[in-house]
Amino acid sequence: MGSFSVLPLAARRLEGKVAVITGGASGIGASTARLFSKHGAKVIIADIQDELGHSICKELNPQSTTFVHCDVSKETDVENAINHAVSTYGKLDIMHNNAGISGEVKYNILDNTQADFEHVLRINVVGAFLGTKHAARVMIPARKGSIINTASVCSIIGAVGPHAYTSSKHAMDGLMKNTAVELGHFGIRVNNVSPYVVLTQMAKDGMNLDEDGASRLYSNLKGKFLKPEDVADAALFLASDDSKYVSGHNLVLDGGFNVVNSGFCMYPQ
Ligand SMILES: NC(=O)c1ccc[n+]([C@@H]2O[C@H](COP(=O)([O-])OP(=O)(O)OC[C@H]3O[C@@H](n4cnc5c(N)ncnc54)[C@H](O)[C@@H]3O)[C@@H](O)[C@H]2O)c1
Repeated sequence: MGSFSVLPLAARRLEGKVAVITGGASGIGASTARLFSKHGAKVIIADIQDELGHSICKELNPQSTTFVHCDVSKETDVENAINHAVSTYGKLDIMHNNAGISGEVKYNILDNTQADFEHVLRINVVGAFLGTKHAARVMIPARKGSIINTASVCSIIGAVGPHAYTSSKHAMDGLMKNTAVELGHFGIRVNNVSPYVVLTQMAKDGMNLDEDGASRLYSNLKGKFLKPEDVADAALFLASDDSKYVSGHNLVLDGGFNVVNSGFCMYPQ
């Protein structure tokens, strides 16, 4: 075990809960794994980056954190990750469908291939579908659970991401709403957390961003910059009983970015 420590019992908001986090080896997923562990959850990191995933488990408590190799676009891998949670820790309380890719940024639709488009949808949408399906398989008999998808501000607005990415994130909103209704009958909540730009590996590669570039991005909320830890805080809210009546909600973390048309704004910048 590394320098990691959990919070005092009274402050732990996920004590005794079991969570699977896809894409938990890096960025937002890794921050969420750290925060959930701090709050007393048993965490399964399900990712394709084995070395990184194992290193996070080592940094956290190896008794309560495990890594499972899982490509979210493969049903058997997702099924295995959920089964691993149940066989290791006895149940599943929280499913965080967080793994995602931006795909190549090609602004002209004529340059976008069908294969590239389908690849993004397979990981972002099919991955969230498979995670929701297999989480539901074990949550329905328990008649409780919280499913959280990391969508994006691109789930509610156009032209902030590539075509495939924006399409995939809008589709995740539909999936979340449909499953929130169906699974609500069994006491299971389903929500999205939808961040604006966060300077993770995905943003660095996909948007060619560094800190300087990120700080110059359009934002309403001056002097603040969205970090993976902020998204983890939102996921913690949706995972914990603090949000016990919140379902079918797309929690957008964009500092008010989507509420204004920046080309026609009456308040001077
Ligand atoms: N970074 C941003 O600006 C931003 C903004 C809005 C939404 N998001 C969303 O946040 C989520 C996490 O992204 P991030 O920014 O932390 O990026 P990241 O690249 O740091 O992390 C993504 C993780 O997903 C994993 N992954 C990729 N394909 C996978 C697959 N097929 N199966 C399992 N795991 C896979 C990667 O190995 C990686 O660990 C994504 O869904 C992304 O779309 C990111």
